[in-house]
Amino acid sequence: MFDRISGTYDLLNRILSLGMDVYWRQYVAKFIQQDHCTILDCATGTGDQLLAVLKKGPKHVEAWGIDPSVNMLDLAQKKFANTPFAHQVHFLPGQADTLPFDDQFFDFITMSFGIRNVVCVETALKELRRVLKRGGTLALLEFSLPPSHFIRFGHHLYLKHLVPFLGKCIAKESTAYRYLSDTIAEFPYGDQFCALMRQAGFLECRAHPLTMGITTVYVAS
Ligand SMILES: C[S@@+](CC[C@H](N)C(=O)[O-])C[C@H]1O[C@@H](n2cnc3c(N)ncnc32)[C@H](O)[C@@H]1O
Repeated sequence: MFDRISGTYDLLNRILSLGMDVYWRQYVAKFIQQDHCTILDCATGTGDQLLAVLKKGPKHVEAWGIDPSVNMLDLAQKKFANTPFAHQVHFLPGQADTLPFDDQFFDFITMSFGIRNVVCVETALKELRRVLKRGGTLALLEFSLPPSHFIRFGHHLYLKHLVPFLGKCIAKESTAYRYLSDTIAEFPYGDQFCALMRQAGFLECRAHPLTMGITTVYVAS
C-alpha cells in the first residue's frame, strides 16, 4: 500500500495536515539534540522525520532509516542526495518487529506515524527497546483523538469523508486513505499508549499532545 502511494505521499501529508506535519516532526526533533550519537528512524518513509532531526544540527551523527516500502526508501534516498546529510544516513529495508541491529545500538530512536501500521504493537515496541541504549531516548509521533467532543466530531467528519476524498483525487487511492482514517479511530493513545510503552520496558513515558490532541508525541527512555 505504501509503495502505491509513495509518489504523492509528501504532497498529501502537507495538504491533509495543512502543513502542520512539518511542525509535528520539528517537535520530535527537539528531543534529539546531542552530538556524537546514533539515531534510528523506524518506518522512515520518505525520510522527513530524519531530515527534521538532522536539520536541528546535531554534529557527528550517524543515522539509519528503515522501512519495508522500497518505493518510499527510494524517495528518501533521492531527497537526502540533495542535502549535506547524505553521507551520514543509511536507508535499509526492514520491519519494526525484526530490526537488523545489535542490542543497545542507538542513542535515539524516532518513529513517526509508523507504529499504527505494524502487525503487533507490543512486539515492535519491545524490539525498539532492545536496540535502544540504556538511557537512550525514544520519541514517537502518532495520531490521536482530540479530548474535546466538539473538536472530535469535526475531526471525525474530516477523517471519514474529506481524507478519503482527497486521497482518491490526488493519490488515486481512496482505500489507503480510508485505512488511515480507520486506524486512527481505533489506535490506542494517551495514557493507554504510555502503558503499552511501559509494558515493553520503557521508563519515564510522557505524552505531549499537539494541535488540540490530533497528534501526540510520546517520549520515553
Ligand atoms: C504514514 S508512513 C510514515 C512515514 C514517515 N515516518 C513520516 O513521518 O512521514 C508509515 C510508514 O510505515 C511503514 N511501515 C509499514 N509497516 C511497517 C512495519 N511493520 N515496520 C516498519 N515500518 C512499517 C510504511 O512503509 C510507511 O512508510
